[in-house]
Amino acid sequence: MDHFLLSLFAALLFSALLLAIRADENTFDQNYNVTWGFDHATFLDQGKEVQLLIDQYSGSGFASVHDYGSGFFQMRMKIPNKKSNGVVTTFYLTSKPVDQDLVYHDELDFEFMGNNSMPYTLSTNVITNGVAGREQQFHLWFFVEDTPIRVFKNNSHVGVNYLSQSMHIEASIWNSTNWLGPVDWSQGPFTAFYQKFDIDGCLYQDFNPQQCYANTPTNFWNAEKYWQLDPDQQGKYEDVRKKYLSYDYCSKNNESYPECSLNS
Ligand SMILES: *[C@@H]1O[C@H](CO)[C@@H](O)[C@H](O)[C@H]1NC(C)=O
Ligand SMILES: *[C@@H]1O[C@H](CO)[C@@H](O)[C@H](O)[C@H]1NC(C)=O
Ligand SMILES: *[C@@H]1O[C@H](CO)[C@@H](O)[C@H](O)[C@H]1NC(C)=O
Ligand SMILES: *[C@@H]1O[C@H](CO)[C@@H](O)[C@H](O)[C@H]1NC(C)=O
Ligand SMILES: *[C@@H]1O[C@H](CO)[C@@H](O)[C@H](O)[C@H]1NC(C)=O
Repeated sequence: MDHFLLSLFAALLFSALLLAIRADENTFDQNYNVTWGFDHATFLDQGKEVQLLIDQYSGSGFASVHDYGSGFFQMRMKIPNKKSNGVVTTFYLTSKPVDQDLVYHDELDFEFMGNNSMPYTLSTNVITNGVAGREQQFHLWFFVEDTPIRVFKNNSHVGVNYLSQSMHIEASIWNSTNWLGPVDWSQGPFTAFYQKFDIDGCLYQDFNPQQCYANTPTNFWNAEKYWQLDPDQQGKYEDVRKKYLSYDYCSKNNESYPECSLNS
């Protein structure tokens, strides 16, 4: 298992989940900009694929041009296929503007933690209004496609902040020595590949944020059928949690997080 080919998406609204869809192909430039490590990003296949590289000098990352108020977000990714402890490959949504700080921000994270041997771990997190610490981590199996792995419901009725700010997409490969320990640079450089740059999102507009919550044909992800997992998805979700969940914040800090005692 050298390569993981994974499709990711996060749906913002009643729940955030992970699964894959087939979609049209936009080029990178239509929706994204490289934001750092400019000479470490390479465009392939006429802009339908991007390689991000990390070496001793720099990692690299990109961000969507626009902000979204809701959507059905996805990315196809291939993470480094070598001993890569300390290298993290990401796909996430954040309300924090590129290059600016915003403490009370919202964020949905998918971070693939490099390792020198199996298993590889996918770390997910949900940050609302600056409150983090909601990690759930999974040892990876071959495909994540069509399998929901994380659900975060709107529990604002019991005082749990839900995602409420507009967000943009970011992706990166970075040196996470501080989190996962040292990188063996003799294995480098490390490369990650990204495909599928079309974005099914509702463009955020300051004067009418509610518009992105409307159930319209364009905002198909707001349809009632997406408010919860269907029985088949629920079965897969429970199965994955049973077999691959390696860390769950709810099993440790549950007094600080009221949603942990609710049936999720
Ligand atoms: C979450 O629930 C609260 C209260 O029930 C509601 O006001 C808010 O609009 C909901 N948020 C979203 C994104 O649906
Ligand atoms: C990002 O891309 C957009 C559209 O292609 C462009 O107008 C804008 O100048 C770019 N921004 C940066 C920081 O490169
Ligand atoms: C990686 O991060 C660590 C911790 O911040 C730092 O000490 C080290 O210099 C970094 N290495 C490279 C090559 O960026
Ligand atoms: C890395 O692999 C080791 C041994 O195979 C395992 O114990 C550890 O949990 C893995 N770490 C991560 C972050 O996946
Ligand atoms: C809450 O945490 C305790 C340990 O701190 C654990 O025994 C218990 O199973 C947790 N409850 C839930 C719902 O995860």
